[in-house]
Amino acid sequence: MKKKGRLAFSFCGLGGGWVLFVLVITGLLVGSLSLAGAVQAGSGSKLIIFSWWTAGGETDALQALLDTYRENEPEVEVVNVTIAGGAGTNAKGMLKARMLSGEPVDSFQVHAGSELIDSWVKTGFLQPITDLWVKNRWFDVFPPQLVEMLSYKEEVYAVPVGVHRGNVLWYNRTLLMDYGLSPPRTFDEFFAVAETLRQQGIVPLAVASKNKWPVTHLFESILVGAGGPQFYRDLMAGKIPWNDTKVKETLRILEKMMGYANLNHPVLTWDQACEAVLKGDAAMTIMGDWAKGYFTARGAIPGHEYDMVPAPNTKGIFIVIIDTFVLTKEAPHRENALAWLETVGGVEGQMRFNQIKGSIPPRLDVPMGAFDELARRARAAFFQDELVFSFAHSSVTSDAFVSAVNDELAAFIHMGDIDYTAARLDRQAEELGIRTGTK
Ligand code: GAL
Repeated sequence: MKKKGRLAFSFCGLGGGWVLFVLVITGLLVGSLSLAGAVQAGSGSKLIIFSWWTAGGETDALQALLDTYRENEPEVEVVNVTIAGGAGTNAKGMLKARMLSGEPVDSFQVHAGSELIDSWVKTGFLQPITDLWVKNRWFDVFPPQLVEMLSYKEEVYAVPVGVHRGNVLWYNRTLLMDYGLSPPRTFDEFFAVAETLRQQGIVPLAVASKNKWPVTHLFESILVGAGGPQFYRDLMAGKIPWNDTKVKETLRILEKMMGYANLNHPVLTWDQACEAVLKGDAAMTIMGDWAKGYFTARGAIPGHEYDMVPAPNTKGIFIVIIDTFVLTKEAPHRENALAWLETVGGVEGQMRFNQIKGSIPPRLDVPMGAFDELARRARAAFFQDELVFSFAHSSVTSDAFVSAVNDELAAFIHMGDIDYTAARLDRQAEELGIRTGTK
Protein backbone atom coordinates (compact mmCIF):
# COMPACT_ATOMS: atom_id res chain seq x y z
CA MET A 1 0.00 0.00 0.00
CA LYS A 2 1.21 3.47 -0.78
CA LYS A 3 2.04 5.83 1.99
CA LYS A 4 -0.63 8.43 2.43
CA GLY A 5 0.00 11.83 3.95
CA ARG A 6 -2.07 13.69 6.47
CA LEU A 7 -5.39 15.10 5.37
CA ALA A 8 -5.15 18.68 4.21
CA PHE A 9 -8.09 19.67 6.40
CA SER A 10 -9.44 18.66 9.76
CA PHE A 11 -12.41 16.39 10.23
CA CYS A 12 -14.71 17.08 13.09
CA GLY A 13 -15.62 14.67 15.86
CA LEU A 14 -19.14 13.43 16.26
CA GLY A 15 -19.82 13.74 19.96
CA GLY A 16 -22.85 12.48 21.84
CA GLY A 17 -25.28 14.43 19.69
CA TRP A 18 -24.83 12.03 16.84
CA VAL A 19 -25.56 9.03 19.02
CA LEU A 20 -28.70 10.71 20.27
CA PHE A 21 -29.61 11.62 16.70
CA VAL A 22 -29.30 8.06 15.40
CA LEU A 23 -31.25 6.65 18.32
CA VAL A 24 -34.07 9.09 17.74
CA ILE A 25 -34.02 8.47 14.01
CA THR A 26 -33.99 4.73 14.62
CA GLY A 27 -37.01 5.04 16.82
CA LEU A 28 -38.84 7.17 14.31
CA LEU A 29 -37.98 5.32 11.17
CA VAL A 30 -37.59 1.70 12.06
CA GLY A 31 -41.22 1.09 11.23
CA SER A 32 -40.74 2.20 7.65
CA LEU A 33 -37.55 0.29 6.96
CA SER A 34 -39.25 -2.61 5.31
CA LEU A 35 -40.54 -0.18 2.69
CA ALA A 36 -37.01 0.83 1.74
CA GLY A 37 -36.34 -1.99 -0.70
CA ALA A 38 -37.50 -5.59 -0.63
CA VAL A 39 -34.45 -6.99 1.12
CA GLN A 40 -33.78 -10.49 2.34
CA ALA A 41 -30.42 -10.28 4.06
CA GLY A 42 -28.29 -13.37 3.84
CA SER A 43 -30.05 -14.75 0.78
CA GLY A 44 -28.14 -16.13 -2.24
CA SER A 45 -26.76 -14.01 -5.00
CA LYS A 46 -27.94 -10.51 -4.27
CA LEU A 47 -26.45 -7.09 -3.96
CA ILE A 48 -28.09 -4.38 -1.87
CA ILE A 49 -27.05 -0.86 -2.69
CA PHE A 50 -28.38 2.38 -1.25
CA SER A 51 -28.42 5.94 -2.60
CA TRP A 52 -30.49 9.13 -2.89
CA TRP A 53 -30.27 9.27 -6.65
CA THR A 54 -33.88 9.61 -7.70
CA ALA A 55 -34.01 12.85 -9.72
CA GLY A 56 -33.68 13.25 -13.48
CA GLY A 57 -30.09 12.45 -14.47
CA GLU A 58 -29.34 10.82 -11.12
CA THR A 59 -31.55 7.77 -11.76
CA ASP A 60 -30.25 7.36 -15.30
CA ALA A 61 -26.62 7.61 -14.22
CA LEU A 62 -27.13 5.05 -11.47
CA GLN A 63 -28.92 2.80 -13.95
CA ALA A 64 -25.95 3.00 -16.32
CA LEU A 65 -23.66 1.91 -13.49
CA LEU A 66 -26.03 -0.92 -12.58
CA ASP A 67 -26.20 -2.01 -16.22
CA THR A 68 -22.41 -2.16 -16.31
CA TYR A 69 -22.45 -4.25 -13.14
CA ARG A 70 -25.11 -6.60 -14.54
CA GLU A 71 -23.03 -7.13 -17.66
CA ASN A 72 -20.14 -8.18 -15.41
CA GLU A 73 -22.25 -10.15 -12.92
CA PRO A 74 -25.39 -11.36 -14.74
CA GLU A 75 -26.32 -13.85 -12.00
CA VAL A 76 -26.65 -11.28 -9.24
CA GLU A 77 -30.02 -9.84 -8.34
CA VAL A 78 -29.58 -6.18 -7.49
CA VAL A 79 -31.74 -4.62 -4.79
CA ASN A 80 -31.54 -0.92 -5.59
CA VAL A 81 -32.74 0.99 -2.54
CA THR A 82 -33.21 4.70 -3.20
CA ILE A 83 -34.62 7.36 -0.90
CA ALA A 84 -35.77 10.55 -2.61
CA GLY A 85 -34.51 13.96 -1.47
CA GLY A 86 -31.48 15.68 -2.98
CA ALA A 87 -28.14 15.71 -1.15
CA GLY A 88 -29.32 12.84 1.04
CA THR A 89 -31.85 15.00 2.92
CA ASN A 90 -33.98 11.98 3.81
CA ALA A 91 -31.62 9.19 2.83
CA LYS A 92 -28.91 9.83 5.41
CA GLY A 93 -31.23 9.34 8.40
CA MET A 94 -32.88 6.31 6.82
CA LEU A 95 -29.52 4.72 6.14
CA LYS A 96 -28.32 5.22 9.71
CA ALA A 97 -31.54 3.75 11.04
CA ARG A 98 -31.25 0.80 8.74
CA MET A 99 -27.62 0.10 9.57
CA LEU A 100 -28.34 0.31 13.30
CA SER A 101 -31.36 -1.95 13.19
CA GLY A 102 -29.52 -4.98 11.83
CA GLU A 103 -30.61 -4.61 8.21
CA PRO A 104 -27.31 -3.55 6.64
CA VAL A 105 -26.96 -2.81 2.98
CA ASP A 106 -23.89 -4.05 1.10
CA SER A 107 -22.76 -0.71 -0.29
CA PHE A 108 -24.00 2.85 -0.08
CA GLN A 109 -23.41 6.28 -1.58
CA VAL A 110 -21.51 8.69 0.65
CA HIS A 111 -19.48 11.87 0.24
CA ALA A 112 -15.72 11.67 0.58
CA GLY A 113 -14.34 13.59 3.56
CA SER A 114 -16.06 14.15 6.88
CA GLU A 115 -19.31 12.38 5.99
CA LEU A 116 -17.40 9.21 5.13
CA ILE A 117 -14.79 9.34 7.87
CA ASP A 118 -16.65 10.87 10.82
CA SER A 119 -20.13 9.48 10.28
CA TRP A 120 -19.21 5.99 9.08
CA VAL A 121 -15.55 4.97 9.44
CA LYS A 122 -14.89 6.18 12.98
CA THR A 123 -18.19 4.71 14.14
CA GLY A 124 -17.12 1.27 12.91
CA PHE A 125 -19.68 0.58 10.19
CA LEU A 126 -17.29 0.17 7.26
CA GLN A 127 -14.80 -2.38 6.09
CA PRO A 128 -11.43 -1.13 4.83
CA ILE A 129 -10.90 -1.93 1.15
CA THR A 130 -7.20 -1.14 0.83
CA ASP A 131 -6.55 -4.63 -0.61
CA LEU A 132 -9.09 -3.98 -3.36
CA TRP A 133 -7.28 -0.73 -4.14
CA VAL A 134 -3.97 -2.57 -4.40
CA LYS A 135 -5.45 -5.41 -6.47
CA ASN A 136 -6.97 -2.96 -8.99
CA ARG A 137 -3.92 -0.66 -9.01
CA TRP A 138 -6.20 2.24 -8.13
CA PHE A 139 -3.47 4.13 -6.30
CA ASP A 140 -1.94 4.72 -9.75
CA VAL A 141 -5.07 6.13 -11.39
CA PHE A 142 -6.91 8.21 -8.77
CA PRO A 143 -5.50 11.62 -7.68
CA PRO A 144 -3.71 11.30 -4.30
CA GLN A 145 -5.69 14.28 -2.95
CA LEU A 146 -8.87 12.27 -3.42
CA VAL A 147 -7.38 9.14 -1.88
CA GLU A 148 -6.61 11.15 1.27
CA MET A 149 -10.28 12.02 1.63
CA LEU A 150 -11.16 8.32 1.59
CA SER A 151 -8.54 7.24 4.08
CA TYR A 152 -8.26 6.84 7.83
CA LYS A 153 -5.31 5.38 9.74
CA GLU A 154 -3.57 4.10 6.60
CA GLU A 155 -6.65 2.28 5.29
CA VAL A 156 -8.88 3.24 2.36
CA TYR A 157 -12.63 2.96 2.85
CA ALA A 158 -14.34 3.98 -0.38
CA VAL A 159 -14.24 4.09 -4.17
CA PRO A 160 -14.94 7.48 -5.78
CA VAL A 161 -17.42 7.33 -8.65
CA GLY A 162 -17.82 11.00 -9.62
CA VAL A 163 -16.48 14.48 -8.92
CA HIS A 164 -19.02 17.30 -8.95
CA ARG A 165 -18.45 21.03 -9.02
CA GLY A 166 -20.67 22.95 -6.61
CA ASN A 167 -20.14 26.58 -7.66
CA VAL A 168 -21.98 26.79 -10.96
CA LEU A 169 -24.44 29.38 -12.23
CA TRP A 170 -26.80 27.90 -14.82
CA TYR A 171 -28.77 30.17 -17.08
CA ASN A 172 -31.46 30.09 -19.72
CA ARG A 173 -29.66 31.28 -22.86
CA THR A 174 -32.74 32.52 -24.67
CA LEU A 175 -33.83 34.70 -21.77
CA LEU A 176 -30.43 36.32 -21.34
CA MET A 177 -30.00 36.78 -25.10
CA ASP A 178 -33.48 38.28 -25.48
CA TYR A 179 -32.55 41.05 -23.09
CA GLY A 180 -29.00 41.47 -24.38
CA LEU A 181 -27.48 40.25 -21.12
CA SER A 182 -24.18 38.45 -20.53
CA PRO A 183 -24.01 35.80 -17.81
CA PRO A 184 -22.80 37.51 -14.63
CA ARG A 185 -19.25 36.90 -13.41
CA THR A 186 -19.25 39.02 -10.26
CA PHE A 187 -21.78 39.86 -7.56
CA ASP A 188 -22.22 43.37 -9.00
CA GLU A 189 -22.89 41.93 -12.45
CA PHE A 190 -25.29 39.41 -10.95
CA PHE A 191 -27.37 42.11 -9.31
CA ALA A 192 -27.28 44.31 -12.45
CA VAL A 193 -28.53 41.40 -14.60
CA ALA A 194 -31.09 40.43 -11.97
CA GLU A 195 -32.44 43.98 -11.77
CA THR A 196 -32.81 44.25 -15.55
CA LEU A 197 -34.65 40.93 -15.68
CA ARG A 198 -36.93 41.86 -12.82
CA GLN A 199 -37.89 45.09 -14.56
CA GLN A 200 -38.91 42.96 -17.55
CA GLY A 201 -41.11 40.79 -15.32
CA ILE A 202 -38.72 37.81 -15.39
CA VAL A 203 -37.85 35.94 -12.19
CA PRO A 204 -34.04 36.32 -12.08
CA LEU A 205 -33.08 33.47 -9.77
CA ALA A 206 -34.63 30.03 -9.18
CA VAL A 207 -34.12 28.82 -5.61
CA ALA A 208 -35.43 25.61 -4.02
CA SER A 209 -35.73 25.78 -0.23
CA LYS A 210 -38.14 22.89 0.40
CA ASN A 211 -35.31 20.60 1.48
CA LYS A 212 -33.22 23.44 2.98
CA TRP A 213 -29.81 22.27 1.67
CA PRO A 214 -29.97 24.17 -1.66
CA VAL A 215 -29.90 27.41 0.35
CA THR A 216 -26.79 26.21 2.20
CA HIS A 217 -25.36 25.24 -1.17
CA LEU A 218 -26.01 28.78 -2.44
CA PHE A 219 -24.58 30.25 0.78
CA GLU A 220 -21.41 28.19 0.29
CA SER A 221 -20.88 29.51 -3.25
CA ILE A 222 -21.34 33.07 -2.01
CA LEU A 223 -19.03 32.43 0.96
CA VAL A 224 -16.21 31.26 -1.31
CA GLY A 225 -16.88 34.13 -3.72
CA ALA A 226 -16.98 36.78 -1.00
CA GLY A 227 -14.18 35.48 1.21
CA GLY A 228 -11.89 33.66 -1.22
CA PRO A 229 -10.51 30.12 -0.89
CA GLN A 230 -8.12 30.69 2.02
CA PHE A 231 -10.72 32.43 4.13
CA TYR A 232 -13.11 29.55 3.40
CA ARG A 233 -10.52 26.93 4.40
CA ASP A 234 -9.64 28.80 7.59
CA LEU A 235 -13.29 29.13 8.50
CA MET A 236 -13.84 25.41 7.99
CA ALA A 237 -10.70 24.58 9.95
CA GLY A 238 -12.06 26.53 12.90
CA LYS A 239 -9.48 29.32 12.74
CA ILE A 240 -12.02 32.06 12.09
CA PRO A 241 -15.28 32.59 13.98
CA TRP A 242 -18.54 32.18 12.08
CA ASN A 243 -19.61 35.69 13.07
CA ASP A 244 -16.71 37.12 11.05
CA THR A 245 -17.47 40.13 8.86
CA LYS A 246 -17.08 38.01 5.70
CA VAL A 247 -19.72 35.57 6.93
CA LYS A 248 -21.97 38.58 7.55
CA GLU A 249 -21.17 39.89 4.08
CA THR A 250 -22.14 36.47 2.70
CA LEU A 251 -25.45 36.62 4.54
CA ARG A 252 -26.06 40.13 3.19
CA ILE A 253 -25.50 38.94 -0.38
CA LEU A 254 -27.66 35.86 0.23
CA GLU A 255 -30.47 38.04 1.52
CA LYS A 256 -30.19 40.35 -1.48
CA MET A 257 -30.20 37.38 -3.87
CA MET A 258 -33.30 35.97 -2.19
CA GLY A 259 -34.96 39.28 -3.04
CA TYR A 260 -34.61 38.25 -6.69
CA ALA A 261 -35.80 34.66 -6.17
CA ASN A 262 -39.00 32.89 -7.13
CA LEU A 263 -41.72 33.33 -4.51
CA ASN A 264 -42.54 29.62 -4.55
CA HIS A 265 -39.04 28.56 -3.44
CA PRO A 266 -40.35 26.98 -0.18
CA VAL A 267 -42.19 24.29 -2.18
CA LEU A 268 -39.52 23.49 -4.78
CA THR A 269 -36.81 20.82 -4.85
CA TRP A 270 -33.48 21.43 -6.61
CA ASP A 271 -34.55 19.73 -9.83
CA GLN A 272 -37.78 21.75 -9.92
CA ALA A 273 -35.70 24.93 -9.71
CA CYS A 274 -33.68 23.65 -12.68
CA GLU A 275 -36.92 22.94 -14.51
CA ALA A 276 -37.99 26.56 -13.92
CA VAL A 277 -34.79 27.73 -15.65
CA LEU A 278 -35.26 25.28 -18.51
CA LYS A 279 -38.85 26.40 -19.09
CA GLY A 280 -37.92 30.07 -18.87
CA ASP A 281 -39.91 30.66 -15.68
CA ALA A 282 -36.67 31.89 -14.15
CA ALA A 283 -33.40 32.97 -15.76
CA MET A 284 -30.66 31.57 -13.50
CA THR A 285 -29.97 29.13 -10.69
CA ILE A 286 -26.87 28.27 -8.65
CA MET A 287 -26.50 24.53 -8.22
CA GLY A 288 -23.92 21.76 -8.48
CA ASP A 289 -23.30 20.24 -11.88
CA TRP A 290 -25.70 17.39 -11.22
CA ALA A 291 -27.98 20.08 -12.70
CA LYS A 292 -26.41 19.25 -16.07
CA GLY A 293 -27.48 15.65 -15.51
CA TYR A 294 -31.01 16.92 -14.97
CA PHE A 295 -30.98 19.15 -18.06
CA THR A 296 -29.58 16.30 -20.17
CA ALA A 297 -32.26 13.91 -18.91
CA ARG A 298 -34.83 16.52 -20.04
CA GLY A 299 -33.30 16.52 -23.53
CA ALA A 300 -31.61 19.93 -23.27
CA ILE A 301 -28.19 20.51 -24.78
CA PRO A 302 -25.51 22.68 -23.18
CA GLY A 303 -24.82 25.74 -25.31
CA HIS A 304 -28.34 25.59 -26.77
CA GLU A 305 -31.16 25.87 -24.24
CA TYR A 306 -28.87 26.56 -21.31
CA ASP A 307 -25.28 27.24 -20.38
CA MET A 308 -23.13 27.79 -17.31
CA VAL A 309 -20.46 30.05 -15.83
CA PRO A 310 -18.77 29.78 -12.44
CA ALA A 311 -20.96 31.19 -9.66
CA PRO A 312 -20.31 34.93 -9.09
CA ASN A 313 -16.76 35.79 -7.97
CA THR A 314 -15.60 32.14 -8.12
CA LYS A 315 -13.79 32.04 -11.46
CA GLY A 316 -10.71 29.89 -11.01
CA ILE A 317 -12.14 28.17 -7.93
CA PHE A 318 -13.66 24.68 -7.94
CA ILE A 319 -15.85 23.63 -5.02
CA VAL A 320 -15.39 19.87 -4.94
CA ILE A 321 -18.04 17.27 -4.04
CA ILE A 322 -17.00 13.64 -4.40
CA ASP A 323 -19.52 10.79 -4.54
CA THR A 324 -18.23 7.41 -3.44
CA PHE A 325 -19.43 3.89 -2.64
CA VAL A 326 -18.29 1.84 0.35
CA LEU A 327 -18.30 -1.72 1.68
CA THR A 328 -20.21 -2.15 4.93
CA LYS A 329 -18.70 -4.27 7.70
CA GLU A 330 -21.81 -6.43 7.95
CA ALA A 331 -22.39 -6.64 4.19
CA PRO A 332 -24.69 -9.64 3.65
CA HIS A 333 -23.27 -10.24 0.16
CA ARG A 334 -19.63 -9.28 0.47
CA GLU A 335 -18.29 -10.90 -2.71
CA ASN A 336 -20.97 -9.27 -4.83
CA ALA A 337 -20.29 -5.95 -3.11
CA LEU A 338 -16.59 -6.18 -3.93
CA ALA A 339 -17.45 -6.84 -7.57
CA TRP A 340 -19.81 -3.83 -7.44
CA LEU A 341 -16.99 -1.64 -6.15
CA GLU A 342 -14.80 -2.85 -9.01
CA THR A 343 -17.49 -1.68 -11.42
CA VAL A 344 -17.73 1.66 -9.57
CA GLY A 345 -13.98 2.16 -9.84
CA GLY A 346 -13.60 0.70 -13.32
CA VAL A 347 -13.04 2.71 -16.52
CA GLU A 348 -16.26 1.50 -18.18
CA GLY A 349 -18.48 2.22 -15.15
CA GLN A 350 -16.95 5.67 -14.61
CA MET A 351 -17.30 6.56 -18.28
CA ARG A 352 -20.95 5.61 -18.54
CA PHE A 353 -21.99 6.99 -15.14
CA ASN A 354 -20.33 10.41 -15.34
CA GLN A 355 -21.49 11.24 -18.86
CA ILE A 356 -25.06 11.07 -17.60
CA LYS A 357 -24.59 12.37 -14.04
CA GLY A 358 -22.99 15.70 -14.96
CA SER A 359 -19.86 14.93 -12.91
CA ILE A 360 -16.36 14.13 -14.13
CA PRO A 361 -14.68 10.76 -13.66
CA PRO A 362 -12.24 10.79 -10.75
CA ARG A 363 -10.12 8.15 -12.50
CA LEU A 364 -7.45 9.93 -14.47
CA ASP A 365 -7.26 7.36 -17.27
CA VAL A 366 -10.90 7.57 -18.35
CA PRO A 367 -10.92 8.84 -21.96
CA MET A 368 -12.87 12.12 -22.22
CA GLY A 369 -13.51 11.89 -25.98
CA ALA A 370 -17.13 10.83 -25.57
CA PHE A 371 -17.89 13.52 -22.95
CA ASP A 372 -19.54 16.83 -23.86
CA GLU A 373 -17.85 20.22 -23.88
CA LEU A 374 -18.99 21.14 -20.37
CA ALA A 375 -17.52 17.95 -18.93
CA ARG A 376 -14.22 18.54 -20.71
CA ARG A 377 -14.16 22.11 -19.39
CA ALA A 378 -14.94 20.85 -15.87
CA ARG A 379 -12.12 18.32 -16.10
CA ALA A 380 -9.67 21.04 -17.17
CA ALA A 381 -10.93 23.32 -14.40
CA PHE A 382 -10.44 20.55 -11.84
CA PHE A 383 -6.73 20.52 -12.66
CA GLN A 384 -6.24 24.26 -13.19
CA ASP A 385 -8.47 25.81 -10.56
CA GLU A 386 -7.95 26.24 -6.89
CA LEU A 387 -9.80 23.39 -5.17
CA VAL A 388 -11.88 23.83 -2.03
CA PHE A 389 -14.07 21.11 -0.53
CA SER A 390 -17.77 21.55 0.03
CA PHE A 391 -19.02 21.94 3.58
CA ALA A 392 -22.65 22.04 2.37
CA HIS A 393 -22.19 18.43 1.25
CA SER A 394 -20.40 17.40 4.46
CA SER A 395 -16.90 17.08 3.02
CA VAL A 396 -15.12 19.28 5.55
CA THR A 397 -17.56 19.57 8.45
CA SER A 398 -19.74 16.98 10.12
CA ASP A 399 -23.26 16.07 9.02
CA ALA A 400 -24.48 17.44 12.35
CA PHE A 401 -23.03 20.90 11.68
CA VAL A 402 -24.33 20.98 8.10
CA SER A 403 -27.76 20.07 9.33
CA ALA A 404 -27.59 22.89 11.92
CA VAL A 405 -26.53 25.39 9.22
CA ASN A 406 -29.42 24.20 7.03
CA ASP A 407 -31.81 25.06 9.86
CA GLU A 408 -30.21 28.43 10.65
CA LEU A 409 -30.29 29.52 7.01
CA ALA A 410 -33.86 28.28 6.57
CA ALA A 411 -34.80 30.68 9.38
CA PHE A 412 -32.55 33.43 8.01
CA ILE A 413 -34.16 33.62 4.57
CA HIS A 414 -37.45 34.44 6.29
CA MET A 415 -36.18 36.61 9.15
CA GLY A 416 -33.24 38.34 7.46
CA ASP A 417 -31.42 39.15 10.71
CA ILE A 418 -27.73 39.06 9.78
CA ASP A 419 -26.19 39.65 13.23
CA TYR A 420 -28.49 37.16 14.90
CA THR A 421 -27.81 34.45 12.28
CA ALA A 422 -24.05 35.00 12.33
CA ALA A 423 -24.12 34.67 16.13
CA ARG A 424 -26.20 31.51 15.88
CA LEU A 425 -23.82 30.02 13.28
CA ASP A 426 -20.86 30.74 15.52
CA ARG A 427 -22.65 29.15 18.48
CA GLN A 428 -23.39 26.04 16.38
CA ALA A 429 -19.75 25.93 15.26
CA GLU A 430 -18.64 25.98 18.89
CA GLU A 431 -21.19 23.46 20.11
CA LEU A 432 -20.61 21.04 17.27
CA GLY A 433 -16.86 21.26 17.46
CA ILE A 434 -16.03 23.17 14.29
CA ARG A 435 -14.10 25.90 16.06
CA THR A 436 -10.53 25.02 17.01
CA GLY A 437 -10.12 24.30 20.67
CA THR A 438 -13.76 23.36 21.14
CA LYS A 439 -15.10 19.80 21.20
C1 GAL B 1 -25.19 15.77 -3.79
C2 GAL B 1 -24.57 14.57 -4.47
C3 GAL B 1 -24.83 14.62 -5.94
C4 GAL B 1 -26.29 14.91 -6.24
C5 GAL B 1 -26.88 16.00 -5.36
C6 GAL B 1 -28.38 16.19 -5.48
O1 GAL B 1 -24.99 15.73 -2.41
O2 GAL B 1 -23.18 14.58 -4.24
O3 GAL B 1 -24.44 13.41 -6.53
O4 GAL B 1 -26.97 13.74 -6.17
O5 GAL B 1 -26.58 15.76 -4.02
O6 GAL B 1 -29.10 15.07 -5.06
